[in-house]
Amino acid sequence: MVDAESRASVLVTGAAGYVGTHLSRYLQARRWRVIGIDSFLRPLSPAKRGVIAMDVADTAALETLLRSEAVSHVIHLAALTFPAESLLDPGSYYATNVAGTLSLLRAIRNVSVSTLVFASSCAIYGATTDDYVNESNAASPCSPYGRSKLMAEQMIIDSAVASKSFDAVILRLFNVAGGDSGSFVPGTRCAATRLIPSAIRAARDSSSVFGIHGVDWPTPDGTCVRDYVHIEDVCAAFERSLVIPRSGGCPILNIGSGVGTSIRNVIQAVERATESQIATAVREASPGDPPAIVASVDAARRVLQWSPGRSALAEIVQSALAESGA
Ligand SMILES: NC(=O)c1ccc[n+]([C@@H]2O[C@H](COP(=O)([O-])OP(=O)(O)OC[C@H]3O[C@@H](n4cnc5c(N)ncnc54)[C@H](O)[C@@H]3O)[C@@H](O)[C@H]2O)c1
Repeated sequence: MVDAESRASVLVTGAAGYVGTHLSRYLQARRWRVIGIDSFLRPLSPAKRGVIAMDVADTAALETLLRSEAVSHVIHLAALTFPAESLLDPGSYYATNVAGTLSLLRAIRNVSVSTLVFASSCAIYGATTDDYVNESNAASPCSPYGRSKLMAEQMIIDSAVASKSFDAVILRLFNVAGGDSGSFVPGTRCAATRLIPSAIRAARDSSSVFGIHGVDWPTPDGTCVRDYVHIEDVCAAFERSLVIPRSGGCPILNIGSGVGTSIRNVIQAVERATESQIATAVREASPGDPPAIVASVDAARRVLQWSPGRSALAEIVQSALAESGA
């Protein structure tokens, strides 16, 4: 059922990226009016899918758009998103992820936005020895990417507290994966470089070799352990964040599956789903990678009345396969 609130206008920044594309479609299907912007740094496709070309650094253009479209909710996804790249080019990461967020905060200062939902990342936690990380774990990011996300979180919290005109919700996303059940979407360059799409490519192409970055990590099978959460569960968490009652606070919530999955687990799941073998080779461990990180999602369950119901690995892999047209 759609209530009056559900027909409000939502600005989605980074709308042409992996999460943004799926989230825009998810919200539109639930009758939100979505206004998407993107700098098209890493375009989804030549046809820009109705997304407005705009950089989050352009405060004046953002403010004009927020006013003209009577935007009441903002979901801020626009970012540079690769931890390893951020070690080589930290300045670009701080410019986009920190200064870009500041620009957005300035733009919403004088308009009637009531909610800002920010896509933060589990990268803010860094290496941890805890089986599950919860939101009160110390933040100790291993990369400029993680540090830029943490700085953006802090700016958002301070601004929401100071302004009193909007509430903020911070979602610390774990490894978002999979496709949606609806239609075929060509993968973004970014998504295609991520683990599950790479494993699917390797399964399809018998000449390609899937690189495993490190097999001596202190994990049960020696490969990195991550928490994969289905893109539709992530979209649902964003939508829930738009409709929860305003509290005047600023909830910070892990969005994951709560299940640890190793790289070898992913390879096996893709091999099962594709009925093919994946050739693997051991590569150097990626800098800025923690060995294992798995979410506690108790807070998100409680605050958002949400659960990661689609995030079983087999379902994520099946949906990624379906979306890639396999
Ligand atoms: N995908 C994941 O597993 C994951 C995990 C944790 C956090 N996140 C966060 O979720 C958000 C979305 O991630 P994604 O996987 O869709 O990344 P993505 O790289 O696919 O999309 C990011 C989008 O932001 C756009 N962008 C970059 N700089 C911009 C700017 N200055 N102005 C406007 N647009 C700009 C890019 O063109 C791109 O389309 C990011 O903030 C990311 O840090 C994602």
